[in-house]
Amino acid sequence: MRYGYFDDQNREYVITQPDTPLPWINYLGMADYFGLISNTAGGYSFFQDARLRRLTRYRYNNVPSDIGGRYLYLRDDKDGTFWSPTWMPTRHPLEDYSCRHGMGYSRIGSTFHGIRADINYFVPPNETLEIWDLTLENQSEETLTLSAFSCVEFCLWDALDDATNFQRNLSIGELEVEGSVIYHKTEYRERRNHFAYFACSEPLAGYETQRESFLGPYRGWESPQVVESGHSTNSLKTGWSPVGVHHLRFILAPGEKKQVIFLLGYHENLPDEKFSPRGSQTINKRTVEPVIQAYLDPQRVDEAFQALLGVWDELLGVIQVHTPDEHVDRMVNIWNAYQCMVTFNLSRSASYFESGIGRGMGFRDSNQDLLGFIHMVPDRARQRILDLASTQLENGGAFHQYQPLTKRGNDSIGSNFNDDPLWLVLSAAAYLKETADWDILKERIPFENKPGTEASLLDHLRRSIQYVIDNIGPHGLPLIGRADWNDCLNLNTFSHNPGESFQTTTNRDGKVAESVVIAALFTMAAMELSQITHRLGMREESERLSGLADGMAATTRRYGWDGGWFLRAYDHFGQPVGSKSCEEGKIYIEPQGLCTMAGIGVSERLAETALKAVERHLATEHGIMLLQPPYQSYHLHLGEISSYPPGFKENASVFCHTNPWIMIAEAMLGAGDRALDYYLRINPSYREIMSDLHRCEPYVYAQMIAGKDSDAFGEAKNAWLTGTAAWNFVAITQWILGIRPDFDGLRLEPVLPDKWEGFSVVRKFRGSTYHITVRRKGRGNELTLMVNGQPVEGTLIPVTEAEQVDVEVTIG
Ligand code: BGC
Ligand code: NOJ
Repeated sequence: MRYGYFDDQNREYVITQPDTPLPWINYLGMADYFGLISNTAGGYSFFQDARLRRLTRYRYNNVPSDIGGRYLYLRDDKDGTFWSPTWMPTRHPLEDYSCRHGMGYSRIGSTFHGIRADINYFVPPNETLEIWDLTLENQSEETLTLSAFSCVEFCLWDALDDATNFQRNLSIGELEVEGSVIYHKTEYRERRNHFAYFACSEPLAGYETQRESFLGPYRGWESPQVVESGHSTNSLKTGWSPVGVHHLRFILAPGEKKQVIFLLGYHENLPDEKFSPRGSQTINKRTVEPVIQAYLDPQRVDEAFQALLGVWDELLGVIQVHTPDEHVDRMVNIWNAYQCMVTFNLSRSASYFESGIGRGMGFRDSNQDLLGFIHMVPDRARQRILDLASTQLENGGAFHQYQPLTKRGNDSIGSNFNDDPLWLVLSAAAYLKETADWDILKERIPFENKPGTEASLLDHLRRSIQYVIDNIGPHGLPLIGRADWNDCLNLNTFSHNPGESFQTTTNRDGKVAESVVIAALFTMAAMELSQITHRLGMREESERLSGLADGMAATTRRYGWDGGWFLRAYDHFGQPVGSKSCEEGKIYIEPQGLCTMAGIGVSERLAETALKAVERHLATEHGIMLLQPPYQSYHLHLGEISSYPPGFKENASVFCHTNPWIMIAEAMLGAGDRALDYYLRINPSYREIMSDLHRCEPYVYAQMIAGKDSDAFGEAKNAWLTGTAAWNFVAITQWILGIRPDFDGLRLEPVLPDKWEGFSVVRKFRGSTYHITVRRKGRGNELTLMVNGQPVEGTLIPVTEAEQVDVEVTIG
């Protein structure tokens, strides 16, 4: 069952029924100001940091689940009927409801009581405000006397404190109202020099700034007393719960339209220019007023919206594909790329499954997210790599997380996730392949942000490699530390105290448990750094690194092979994990994908055998599960992985992040059909027809889909902020379609699924636009390349000065 449809032309998903299985959300904002918005206008906004600069409140775990947002109420002042044009919070049955989630905007519209209402919500590029552009039309035969109420509930900035520290917070709320603008200035009297504002293009019939005055005692958002009665109280009090409500009245003749613009924004004043007149406690509005005036102008709003569309034309224009499969096209051309940008912006901080107060930016997460957006915003990728490297520890290890506002490592989580530093090498290599910006390697950046410790990025990468060499276990495989990519495989934790953090507790010294996943990542990273140093003319170092990669590959073949597939790890007692000798967790997905990607056991055909085992033991119609059989009970020596009921999360769900590794592995072995098949099984657009089962948004990947051992097989969770976005983008574009940036040019190695006759791609790369056509001429994977009509040897197209390059690839 579907709840809407894709409008690919407009790059939108159109939801036609408000009660989707879960709130289906979108993101507003690209740089400093962000908002989450659901299909019924739920959600919240913040400046830069979802915890520390939260503009509006949102209650996770609420009932009903998605309440609190950017609400409007309309009221017929003759008969008292009132409703919300976005369905929530009044939930009146609407005619022609639709929510169009697009690139950085959401348009929600409906008809009720003869009134058509359309609201376009978006953040103009480079501004710290959001616009709600409302158009009303009287489609009835009568003249209507209407009230409209807007509504936001302000958060007192620190979202965690706001939800917990009531003895203080119920006394500190402060606001100002001037004209049609409501200013929220809690703590502005003391150390804050920022405030929020909620402006409106119309003169006010009234306003509210206090939640209780608006709702009335013991009432909820579905029937505020002020809306029900049609009379505002013009509340302006200190303390309690500040809200912003504009009350507008107007008369609309039949057929008449009315546009109203609301702005919700964040603004900072210089510390010694906070008040006007000086010495007063009144906000100095000199610098904010011009911004407000500018965006209350409908023409400016239109221009800003066009500019936003233009930004997305640019970003998405870097790669556009045209294949026989609409699910491939719309994900690659629109939604997957979009999700990569959102994930880059927010890491794992704020979604409907991440509260925005939980954690900082993950070191490995951010490095992997990079893989999905370097081609769109290389400058921001560059900065992100340098920021990440600046948090690296001197021993080459990494803080597991860092805080976006301070850009410092998060002490409370610490380090010793022994895979972390390797991801930095892999992301830096991907950046170099896209941009050829070799100078980045010379950038000098500190360790742990400590001035005086600066070393070149190249040195940082060397230390990442050295860190693993310094932490080798009894079989010669890397020690796992707290965990590797799989945060929940905690082989040194041995936690038996309820509630203790699996992330930060370590009860064993960690000198035995080893990870085959880190061995594979090390092999890949050492090979990349070998390639990099080779190009820098450092022959000896390059050879040493490739020797290390070969050595680790050999050790993995020797101690990391279980006969039918790659082992996952050795535990604290030196016993294998992910082996046929285990009762549960006999086979894990990660090493099968990553070892093949590292080339380990490919010529010995171990990789091929491992991928067959994946197909046999782990693949389902809803994707490939992380392990089998699941752990049925808690295992002290395995940790969090066994804390989940079978079929959920790391305990044998389809943990989508890992699936593209298998797609890539299959593509590397030339199995285009199987690679595409696996891709489609978790492709959200492909799964749209089963939205009632899948439940999450059909336009973005979710972190997990419940596995076959759960009671919810096929149900997705944790949509949006997941490494799945970047890796799937890499798998489909670089490995299945085979358009792959390489150090010395663009590599073309498509593996065409059997039923495809061909496809075409436009790819911008290092200043040239490549028009690529791929055609099948027979069975098999043999490739022939013609560049601008001339045959070329091999599969690499060297970089050129030409603006346009025509490439024809034939396969067969
Ligand atoms: C989740 C992991 C996550 C970890 C760190 C665990 O509870 O299952 O997916 O990586 O927490 O936040
Ligand atoms: C989600 C985390 O953000 C990521 O770092 C980790 O690799 C996966 N979960 C697997 O545990």
